[in-house]
Amino acid sequence: MANSSRAPGRSRRVRTAFAVSAAVGLLATAAAVVLPGSASAASTLGASAAERGRYFGTAVAVNRLNDSAYTSILNREFNQVTAENEMKIDALQPQQGQFNYGTADRLVQHARSQGMLVRGHTLAWHSQQPDWMRNMSGPTLRNAMLNHVTQVATHFRGQIEWWDVVNEAFEDGSSGARRDSNLQRTGDDWIEAAFRAARQADPNADLCYNDYNIDNWNDAKTQAVYRMVQDFKSRGVPIDCVGLQSHFTGGSNYPSNYRTTLSSFAALGVDVHITELDIRNAPSDAYRNVVNDCLAVARCKGITVWGIRDSDSWRSNESPLLFNGSGQKKPAYDAVLAALNNGTPPPTGDPTTPPPTGNPTTPPPGGGCTATVTPGQVWGDRYNTSVTVSGASTWSVVVEITPPQRISATWSGNPTWDSSGNVMTMRSNGSGNTFGFTTMMNGNSSARPQIRSCTAG
Ligand code: G3I
Repeated sequence: MANSSRAPGRSRRVRTAFAVSAAVGLLATAAAVVLPGSASAASTLGASAAERGRYFGTAVAVNRLNDSAYTSILNREFNQVTAENEMKIDALQPQQGQFNYGTADRLVQHARSQGMLVRGHTLAWHSQQPDWMRNMSGPTLRNAMLNHVTQVATHFRGQIEWWDVVNEAFEDGSSGARRDSNLQRTGDDWIEAAFRAARQADPNADLCYNDYNIDNWNDAKTQAVYRMVQDFKSRGVPIDCVGLQSHFTGGSNYPSNYRTTLSSFAALGVDVHITELDIRNAPSDAYRNVVNDCLAVARCKGITVWGIRDSDSWRSNESPLLFNGSGQKKPAYDAVLAALNNGTPPPTGDPTTPPPTGNPTTPPPGGGCTATVTPGQVWGDRYNTSVTVSGASTWSVVVEITPPQRISATWSGNPTWDSSGNVMTMRSNGSGNTFGFTTMMNGNSSARPQIRSCTAG
């Protein structure tokens, strides 16, 4: 989250930590149930996620807050909310210059009364524009968009943890291009202009780019968003996070390289959020995988499901959520809660500079490249390592770790593993010549990874 344009002297990290602990406190008093055989296992999604330094949230339709069955699940299980529709442009500014905050304010008040964090969704989007904006173009539209960003972010200042500043600005398919829209036609820089306006209006909110179909690391759309974020970070455009909507519905599936996508974005220096999760027919395995992938990436801050009960879903015919229409927990709920409870707590204390333990390893010559290890941050239970390759622009590097140590996250490369799980082959993925990984110590704090080979090509 380090960003030079952040208001000096104000730490959002502190506020986030406070808000999460406030939510934990509320949830703990509301739902402190001890599970048999696991005295410390949390019994709700939000409480368990918070123990791991994460949130577990849901999209909320404000008119459903009058439904007590809905609201009791919301208040019991979740510590973060996103307005499903009520903070979209057509909802907040139905006529130009006339802002209608009443419904959205109701959600924010409800969330605050329950200690829940609020994600603002969304300041600039090609869709759900009111008629007056849909018919605009050029500088008039650009100014109207920026005014909307400024007014709305100012109205909610201090109440929103993360803003989806721009939503869905890239095209699907193999082009890797920006989506054509009236906003895009105002000039390529409309996205960064929106981010700068949002930062100015609410310097303490984290600012996210949010999109769907950016879950598979190999997809052109994922790579295009990655390059935009990389470019923004290199030029100081104020971006703090990327939201992966992760709608695994309507024919889109959970990809096996999802963790690589999360860790690759994170390695750019942004947080990652899973913002609109739903999975066709709610298979326990895929839900469990998503949770495990998020927990494996330190910068994955939390998961939001796109609705509470199947009957609340925008895709209710696919029954993609964690509760059925009667509000009962589905098997996927149990899988998610168990995965959260099995996750390791976040690292505590400040990262320290690692003592050099043994010589950084270099591979035997002959592979056409050299891999140099740089030890990274060390926490109580894990440590980071980065490896820089010289002598080749495409390469594969074989890294071996000592069990019971285990690599839990990687970034900036495409990893594959041998059957033991102790030998990782990392291949270049076009994102540069340095890759990295996090290793869980699992009781062995002294061993360090060994480079076995570096092969060009
Ligand atoms: O409230 C009106 C109602 O008065 C009217 O009778 C009815 C008939 O058209 O429409 C109702 O509004 C609908 C609204 O949902 C509330 O149900 C809109 O037409 C409909 O377009 C809107 O759909 C929403 C969609 O975004 C478009 O904004 C979905 O609920 C919402 O789940 C969906 O959410 C999006 C995220 O914002 C971005 N990512 C994808 C995700 C799924 O499409």
